[in-house]
Amino acid sequence: MAAEMQQVDEVIRRRLSSDVALINQISHYIVSAGGKRIRPRLVLLFASALGFDGAARFEMAATVEFIHTATLLHDDVVDESSLRRGRQTANALFGNAASVLVGDFLYSRAFQMMVGVERMRVLEVLADATNIIAEGEVLQLMNMHDPDLSVDDYLRVIRFKTAKLFEASARLGAVLADAEPALEEACADYGRSLGTAFQLVDDLLDYEGDTHALGKNVGDDLREGKPTLPLLLAMQSGTAAQRQLIRHAIEHGENERLGDIVDIVRSTGAIAATRQAARTEANKARQSLRALPESPAREALLELCVRSVERSS
Ligand code: IPE
Ligand code: IPE
Ligand code: MG
Ligand code: MG
Repeated sequence: MAAEMQQVDEVIRRRLSSDVALINQISHYIVSAGGKRIRPRLVLLFASALGFDGAARFEMAATVEFIHTATLLHDDVVDESSLRRGRQTANALFGNAASVLVGDFLYSRAFQMMVGVERMRVLEVLADATNIIAEGEVLQLMNMHDPDLSVDDYLRVIRFKTAKLFEASARLGAVLADAEPALEEACADYGRSLGTAFQLVDDLLDYEGDTHALGKNVGDDLREGKPTLPLLLAMQSGTAAQRQLIRHAIEHGENERLGDIVDIVRSTGAIAATRQAARTEANKARQSLRALPESPAREALLELCVRSVERSS
């Protein structure tokens, strides 16, 4: 996809520009650090799998990356994170206010770009997605420090905050290609399942990942008292003492005992079970692709199901 992604890069570079120096500085700072660019790839792959090759696909791919980047700028403020994409976060370097405001710039620039495509359905898909992402982040805020959070409520948060944008990205490829409603839904299903798998793995990597490979600090979730699946499952199958230690860490948001807790999530099988839950979601994504005709793009989408689960960065 290198040539296509270069086109997306070009749109990103062109659309980032602003007469306000600080906006240019911060937006280039985070965008030039790279990232995996999975969401724009979904737009391009679904458009290609369904036979759309118009230039609007690059515009849409850049748009979903802008929305993603805006959520990262805001998320790192909320999570008080200090490392992103192997660099200091924008909030650590430029402060919370600048990060939030430049996040707003990227959000609103994304809306300008989607209006430019002149398709009501595109607006509808992305307006809904951004609204749901915001709900997901607020729901998560309400769940902070709650060790009694149910697995269902946890899953709801990750469907909202992460899977929704994956879903929208996949769906946009289908919308651009004027796919039949059933086919569009199959694409959306793929995105939702893949995004869920992706966040499940993100949450386990926060315990057993490597800071250098991830480009972000491990242990951030525990420090914040964020009840994610590795902790919820470890509390279910651990001893009373282990459960107590995890409850205390969630309630007080501390990671001094991170080493002990990593040992617990490993030894209770909670890491493996989280990875298994991600595999189950990725398999669902794989099934959704049955609706698509054979093509190299479809092969790449199948490959993404494996990589999203077996990744370490
Ligand atoms: C990070 O997303 C936020 C989550 C939804 C877990 P990515 O892992 O896609 O971030 P980049 O864009 O590759 O840095
Ligand atoms: C994903 O959640 C955040 C968004 C979807 C905005 P996380 O808080 O786990 O993402 P990272 O780990 O900071 O990238
Ligand atoms: Mg975060
Ligand atoms: Mg995370």
